Amino acid sequence: MLSPSRRVAVLVSGGGTNLQAILDARGSVIRHAEIVLVVSNKPGAYALERAARAGIPALTLSAKELGGMEAFEHALQRALEEYRIDLIVLAGFLTILSEDFTRRWDHRILNIHPSLIPAFCGRDYYGLRVHEAALARGVKLTGATVHFVNEIPDGGEILLQKAVEVLPGDSPETLQRRVMEQAEWILLPRAIEMVAVEGITQEERSNQ
Ligand code: GAR
Repeated sequence: MLSPSRRVAVLVSGGGTNLQAILDARGSVIRHAEIVLVVSNKPGAYALERAARAGIPALTLSAKELGGMEAFEHALQRALEEYRIDLIVLAGFLTILSEDFTRRWDHRILNIHPSLIPAFCGRDYYGLRVHEAALARGVKLTGATVHFVNEIPDGGEILLQKAVEVLPGDSPETLQRRVMEQAEWILLPRAIEMVAVEGITQEERSNQ
């Protein structure tokens, strides 16, 4: 019998190295989740190319083109329903979702953030800015965090964290790369599998 699996949508805005890590973990770390949809809010994002190469349906939904965040979330919700999505994964998705949306998907949205929350997180911290701030503060350890998404930017329940050393001479770019390699690309597939298995177990319990 095939093992049950959760249907996952991955939301992206850029290069999609975290998306790639998720795709590469299928069949090894990820055994109870299927990536069935990729959504980019940036037309032309390289992550779309990665989705196409993996044969996964991908959509571009741009708030700018749709006339605002409300219309964007409406279109997103419709796509998620159409693809019968169980779990949303924000993998370098650099837009803040509304309280309405995050409530509707309570404990069903995961995000990866490139620092040890609560350091260097919240509305103003994303992408390279996080690593610039860590270097400016002179921390010796940074890392990555996977957490559930709620109405507070980077404020939801923490699932996994991994520390990464800051080395003398690091630039924001070298630090970003180390945090990705040593933490993000490992944690995100692991968190997806954890949440998928937990969801399936809960469903089985409630069916008994
Ligand atoms: C990643 O470092 C991710 O953690 C970060 O953006 C980068 C996207 O890279 N996300 C945030 O800063 C969210 N606040 P990718 O497109 O290559 O996965």
